[in-house]
Amino acid sequence: MTEQSPALDNLLTESRTFPPSEAFSAQANATADFYAEADADREAFWAKQAERLHWETKWSQVLDWTNAPVAKWFVGGKLNVAYNCVDRHVADGHGDQVAIHWVGEPGDSRDITYAQLKDEVSRAANALESLGLVAGDRVAIQMPMVPEAIVAMLACARVGVLHSVVFGGFSPTALRSRVDDQAARIVITTDGQYRRGKAAPMKANVDEALEGAESVEKVIVVRRTGEEVPITEGRDIWWHELVDGQSADHTPQAFDSEHPLFILYTSGTTGKPKGILHTSGGYLTQAAYTHHNVFDHKAGEDVYWCTADIGWITGHTYIVYGPLANRTTQVVYEGTPNTPHEGRHWEIVQQHKVSIYYTAPTLIRTFMKWGNEIPAKYDLSSLRVLGSVGEPINPEAWIWYRENVGANSAPIVDTWWQTETGAIMISPLPGVTSTKPGSAQKALPGISAKVVDDQGVEVGKGGGGYLVLDKPWPGMLRGIWGDEQRFRETYWSRFADQGFYFAGDGAKYDADGDVWLLGRVDDVMNVSGHRISTTEVESALVSHPTVAEAAVVGATDPTTGQGIVAFVILRGNAVDGGEEAVQELRNHVAKEIGPIAKPRQILVVQELPKTRSGKIMRRLLRDVAENRQVGDVTTLADSSVMDLISSGLKSGK
Ligand code: PRX
Repeated sequence: MTEQSPALDNLLTESRTFPPSEAFSAQANATADFYAEADADREAFWAKQAERLHWETKWSQVLDWTNAPVAKWFVGGKLNVAYNCVDRHVADGHGDQVAIHWVGEPGDSRDITYAQLKDEVSRAANALESLGLVAGDRVAIQMPMVPEAIVAMLACARVGVLHSVVFGGFSPTALRSRVDDQAARIVITTDGQYRRGKAAPMKANVDEALEGAESVEKVIVVRRTGEEVPITEGRDIWWHELVDGQSADHTPQAFDSEHPLFILYTSGTTGKPKGILHTSGGYLTQAAYTHHNVFDHKAGEDVYWCTADIGWITGHTYIVYGPLANRTTQVVYEGTPNTPHEGRHWEIVQQHKVSIYYTAPTLIRTFMKWGNEIPAKYDLSSLRVLGSVGEPINPEAWIWYRENVGANSAPIVDTWWQTETGAIMISPLPGVTSTKPGSAQKALPGISAKVVDDQGVEVGKGGGGYLVLDKPWPGMLRGIWGDEQRFRETYWSRFADQGFYFAGDGAKYDADGDVWLLGRVDDVMNVSGHRISTTEVESALVSHPTVAEAAVVGATDPTTGQGIVAFVILRGNAVDGGEEAVQELRNHVAKEIGPIAKPRQILVVQELPKTRSGKIMRRLLRDVAENRQVGDVTTLADSSVMDLISSGLKSGK
C-alpha cells in the first residue's frame, strides 16, 4: 500500500445540511427505526429482507460465517434469480407492465413488458441449453446497452450459468485475458455498436480477442448496426437464428442460495484484473433491499433510470438484478449523453417522466460544464430521487445537481459501494437522513462500516483513517475466481487480527460521526468512476518496445475525478520522446487495455523517484502532475531525482 491520496479538502469544510421534507418522509419506504431494528438482530433483519424474494425452498440458517472470510447466506435456501426478476411479476398479474423503455442512440426505441421479457429470457435460456451449457459453465458477454444484453444475463442466471460481462470499451487483449481466466465456453456480442452517432465495430474486436482461444466453442452475435461481419463457420451463430425459434416455455430450476451467479472483473493493485465472484440469494436480497429503500422505489409508479453500463457492477445490481427483482419500470439508454445534443438525458427524463435518476459525479460535472441552460429547457418535474455513485462527489457538483436537476427538493443519495460489496453499503436514506453535500454519511441498516487507524482501532469523531467493513453482509463477494489466496490477501490480511474487510478507501468521520469518503489509499485510480490500477497501465506502457520504465499516478482532474498521468523513461536507443512518440504510447495503452485507460498526459523523464528499497514514490510524482510544490524527498535513494524531473519538464526535455 502506498500513501493516502490527497484528501479532498473542500469536502471537509462543508457544513450545509438538507433535511427531508415532511411530505417525502411520510411516504418513504425507509423509516428511521430500521437502524435500531437491524442493530437489535442483524440476521433477523436480513431474513426479513430476503422475504422480498420468492424462495423455492426456504433457508434453514441466515448466515454461516464459520468458514470466514467466505460467507454463506440463507443456507439451504433455493431460488431461481431470473424467476425472481421476471416470471413472478407476470404470475402476480403484472405481465403488461413495461419493464424496459429502451432508447437507442440513433432514436429507435423499444418498450418491453414483463411478459415479453419472460418469453425472451425463456427462449434465450432454451437456446443456451441447446448449445449444451450446464449450470456452473461460464459465458462472457461483451455488448453495448441493447435489451439482448440484459436478456442474455438473465438467461444465464436462469440456467445457473455464470455470466461475465466485459465492458464494451475494453480492448481485445483485455477481453481475451478475462475469457481465458474463466475458461468461458460461449461469448455473446453484437455486430457493432452506436457510439456518438456512428456505428463502430464490436464483433471485430471479439474476433481478434478470440484467435486461438481454446475454451470458446460458440460466439453468439446479436444484430444491432447491421454492418457486415465475418462469420466463422461452426463457431458463430446469429442470435436471431438461434433464439427466435426457441420455445417461450422454460421451467426455471431452483439453485442453491450460494450457487454462483456471475464473475465481474475489476482492477486491483497488480496488473492482473480480479474476477470478483458473486452468488445468488444474498446478492439478490441486498440488491433488492437497497434498490427499494435507497431509491424509495415504488413498483408500478416510479420510472427509474440508472445511467451506468452493464459492463460495470452498477449496471449489474442497479439495472438488472435490483430493479427487476423489485418490478421496476426503467429506462435503458444505449448511447452517450451528448448524442445528438447535450440535452439528451433531460429529453429522455421529460419524455418518460423519469422519477428516480442514478448517475456518476463525473457526468454531473460534465453537465455543469455544458451549462445550466441545458437542463433548464426541459420539464424535469417528475424527478423525485437523485443518486450518485462511483467516486466522492464534490459539494459544488452535489449542489448543482440538487438545484439544476432536482428542483431544490429531490433528496440526493450519495451511495458508496464497490464491485466487491455487490450492492450499496453506505448511503443516506431518502426521507430519513438529513443529507450533506459530499458525504455518503451512514452504513445502511444491516451493514456495519468503521473508520479505523493503522492498528485497526476505530477513530473518533473528526478523525480519519481507513474504511473497513467489520461484519459480513449478504451481497459480499465470495472470492476471486481461481485465486483464493489473492482474495484473502487483498481484502482480509490488512486487518486480519480484527477480521475486518479492508475496502482500500480512505475515510473520515465528521463531528456528527458521518462518513466522508476520501478516495483510494492503494494503487488504484478512479477515472470517471472507473477503477484502473496504476500497475495495469504501467505494464501496458512497458510492453511497448520504446519504454524502459514507467510510473503512473492518478492526478486530480476537474471532470473525471482523476486523470492518468504517466512518467516514462525511454530506452537508450529510442526516439527523442517527441509528440508523436507520446501519442503512439497513448494509443498503445488504449490497445492493451481500452480507451478508458489512455493516459491524459505522458511525461518523458530521465529518472524516477525511488526509495532505497526500489519502490517508486508516486506521492512525489503526483505533486508534479498536480503542479504542486514537491513534498518531502528525504526517503528517496537519490534526492536530486526530483530536481532532475522538474527541471527536465520545465525545459521540455
Ligand atoms: O473508491 C471507492 C469509489 O469506487 C470504488 C469502487 O469502484 P468499483 O468497484 O468500480 O465500483 C464503483 C461503483 C459501485 C470504491 O472503492 N466509490 C464508489 N462510490 C463512491 C466511491 N467513493 C466515494 N463515494 C462514493 N459514493
